[in-house]
Amino acid sequence: MSQTARTLIFVKPDGVRRGLVGEIIQRFERRGIRIVGLKMVRPTRELAEKHYAVHRDKPFFESVVNFITSGPVVAMVLECPNAIEITRQMMGATNPANAAPGTIRGDFGLDIEQNIIHGSSDPEAAAYELNLWFTPEELVG
Ligand code: TYD
Ligand code: MG
Repeated sequence: MSQTARTLIFVKPDGVRRGLVGEIIQRFERRGIRIVGLKMVRPTRELAEKHYAVHRDKPFFESVVNFITSGPVVAMVLECPNAIEITRQMMGATNPANAAPGTIRGDFGLDIEQNIIHGSSDPEAAAYELNLWFTPEELVG
């Protein structure tokens, strides 16, 4: 059974710098996914460290936090049935080198760190990230 869910997505600094914001939002809209929150922000180190807290002990943590704070990102909350699974499918594999053509990472990326887009990976992560990135007032009903 499909259930309406929300997920936290952001176009990373490389995607913004490369002018891919419109293309990415268009893909989600055309799929029929509802945008319930949208903003451009330059993540602080505090936000980035909290966002990637689950990766605190990984060798790439410091580097990915530096990257994510290197420029503005476009953050959004998307809503549709099975939003997490659907958007993860549309994003493709974490490493763009392994991402299928037709996915966002598979069409636009080559680098595992500068992989264009973030999307929540599971319901627990989505709840944590939604609360971290958006206030209730920033979301439409
Ligand atoms: P992860 O949560 O594993 O991937 P995803 O974004 O697909 O959920 O990792 C978070 C980010 O950390 C990932 O998007 C890019 C970066 N990263 C690296 O730079 N090197 C790595 O080896 C991994 C696994 C991730
Ligand atoms: Mg992840």
